[in-house]
Amino acid sequence: KWPDKVTIKEVGPRDGLQNEKEIVSAEEKIEWIDALSQTGLSYIEITSFVNPNWVPQLSDAEVVAKGIKRNPAVTYGALVPNMRGLETALEADIDEVSVFMSASETHNRKNINKSIDQTFPVLQETINGALAAGKSLRGYVSTIFGCPYEGKVPIEQVFMVCDRLFDMGIGELSLGDTTGIANPRQVEEVLDLALKRYDRNKIALHFHDTRGMAMANVLKALDYGITSFDSALGGIGGCPYAPGASGNVATDDLVYMLEDMGISTKINQAKLLDAAVRIQQSLGKKLPSHQMAVYSEQ
Ligand code: HMG
Ligand code: MG
Repeated sequence: KWPDKVTIKEVGPRDGLQNEKEIVSAEEKIEWIDALSQTGLSYIEITSFVNPNWVPQLSDAEVVAKGIKRNPAVTYGALVPNMRGLETALEADIDEVSVFMSASETHNRKNINKSIDQTFPVLQETINGALAAGKSLRGYVSTIFGCPYEGKVPIEQVFMVCDRLFDMGIGELSLGDTTGIANPRQVEEVLDLALKRYDRNKIALHFHDTRGMAMANVLKALDYGITSFDSALGGIGGCPYAPGASGNVATDDLVYMLEDMGISTKINQAKLLDAAVRIQQSLGKKLPSHQMAVYSEQ
């Protein structure tokens, strides 16, 4: 009943690092991304072209994007909030542009300084600009399973925002559990409705593991035949403008589970762990994933 293969979209260099206070040098980021490019991953979100005052850790976006060795088998994506960001992203020749917003009004304002209504025209011109430049488009919607400021978000509100992003021209929609509050029952409720509305091949799930439920939620999404998942190597990550947000589901744990279940990811686990050790050294602290705990026992 599960899919035979799954695409893992590595968001560690973006979501994973954006909440880290200790600045990792551009050189170390480049070396890490270059190592990730050799693991078999087909997609890496490498940075964000946001206001550097808002996310100082990623203020070197352009240097990183221009400094990495591109593997033609990998799509390199980045977050882009507006035209100002798009200009730099195009200059740095990003393959795929990811726009982002929230289903809840308060998180949207705290994260991108605009109301939901004010956000649509900004994203529309960004999407138009990216499409005109021949780039593919991804859209993130945050707080779909709940908002750290508002609590439960009405499902009609979630779909209103998702519909708008699809209407504006995104190719894939990533449904974000920003603060890791989803449970498998909720995943079921959202996917029951979402898959009546949208093509399953255009939906990705983006789980954070704040409460240890990310893997259970992935499994539930697999029951629905979802084949695209976002994760961060070592389980680092979190949105700086969502209190309590912590790491994404760990790529190394996800690859381990999927491969052990016979679901192909095409990712080499030994190379993945080598890349994890590299970023662990740069961050100077133990990464939270289970695979890294097993690895350091050996
Ligand atoms: P703003 O301050 O409202 O922007 O920021 P503004 O348009 O009023 O401009 C103010 C100044 O910022 C101007 O400079 C602009 O040039 C500059 P000044 O003229 O005053 O000198 N500016 C920029 N500089 C560089 N690059 C840019 C840019 N845009 C404006 N792109 C903005 C609005 C959206 C830019 C800001 O709020 C921002 O950068 N927010 C980013 C927050 C963020 O990155 N959050 C984390 C990512 S989202 C996430 O983690 C969730 C996700 O993982 C899914 C999930 O888990 O749910 C995706
Ligand atoms: Mg996230």
